[in-house]
Amino acid sequence: RTLALIGAPTDIGAGHRGAVMGPEALRVAGLGEALHERGLEVIDTGNLAGPANPWLPPTEGYRHLEQVVEWNRLVMEAVQAELGKGRLPVLLGGDHCLALGSIKAVARHCRDTGKKLRILWLDAHADFNTSDVTPSGNVHGMPVACLCGVGPKSLTHLGGDSPAIDPGVLRQIGIRSVDQGEKRLVKEYGVDIYDMRYIDEIGMKRVMEEALEGIDDQTHVHVSFDVDFLDPSIAPGVGTTVPGGPNYREAQLVMEMIADTGRLGSLDIMELNPAYDDHNRTGKLAVDLVESLFGKSTLMRD
Ligand code: ARG
Ligand code: MN
Ligand code: MN
Ligand code: MN
Repeated sequence: RTLALIGAPTDIGAGHRGAVMGPEALRVAGLGEALHERGLEVIDTGNLAGPANPWLPPTEGYRHLEQVVEWNRLVMEAVQAELGKGRLPVLLGGDHCLALGSIKAVARHCRDTGKKLRILWLDAHADFNTSDVTPSGNVHGMPVACLCGVGPKSLTHLGGDSPAIDPGVLRQIGIRSVDQGEKRLVKEYGVDIYDMRYIDEIGMKRVMEEALEGIDDQTHVHVSFDVDFLDPSIAPGVGTTVPGGPNYREAQLVMEMIADTGRLGSLDIMELNPAYDDHNRTGKLAVDLVESLFGKSTLMRD
């Protein structure tokens, strides 16, 4: 399998500057080399070149909507091109608003090839805000809603039909921060959320068994990994830390169990923010976890 790294250096949808440095921090932490060591062919396609971040306050409930649309168009086209070549796209974020473009391309690919889509959304946040309920106007809090057809037309209809996905394909894991109005929306849309309380109560192994249930050889698994999924004590290098996340072993188990399905078809690594990190510690942890996602394990298993 050939992997294509796609750098998307921007913090256009975030509330803190710095995720613009995420792709380079992942490279410096040795992402490409580590995946190559796993026996994978890795092609680094370099960085996309989108608009600069004007760093303005929100207008009508959105910050930088125009630039967010443009970045997502670039991401969508790049991911689509790599999927078309039969490669496994790995999006290096960049903030999480870009998961919209990435998943738009993946959802279309699944429709065209008759694959079943399963999205594993690893995050502290549900990212299901709208301009009416957002506390911030930051579009990185909205991509899931946009994918489900709720949002500005320039995003929901990007590249064609809306909604891009049925909420039923989503499994959100690690969630522990959902805004007031957002709670109503995720309930209304029936998003399958494995929040931290549920993880505490039944344990990560059973959570993952449930989240992976129904994946078969016709399934394309997309992982959207927001690095703020991890507990801030092990992953300080993100703009929006929320206490009480998965610890190192829980996070490894998540990745290992996804790897065991053998169905990983695309990946986003998002929100890494070196400006908040400690000597790229979070970048190195992300690489370590992604190695597990691609099948690294302590012992030989069959
Ligand atoms: N819920 C908050 C907001 O909408 C934070 C979103 C954080 N999202 C993220 N991808 N880090 O502003
Ligand atoms: Mn998040
Ligand atoms: Mn997120
Ligand atoms: Mn595929």
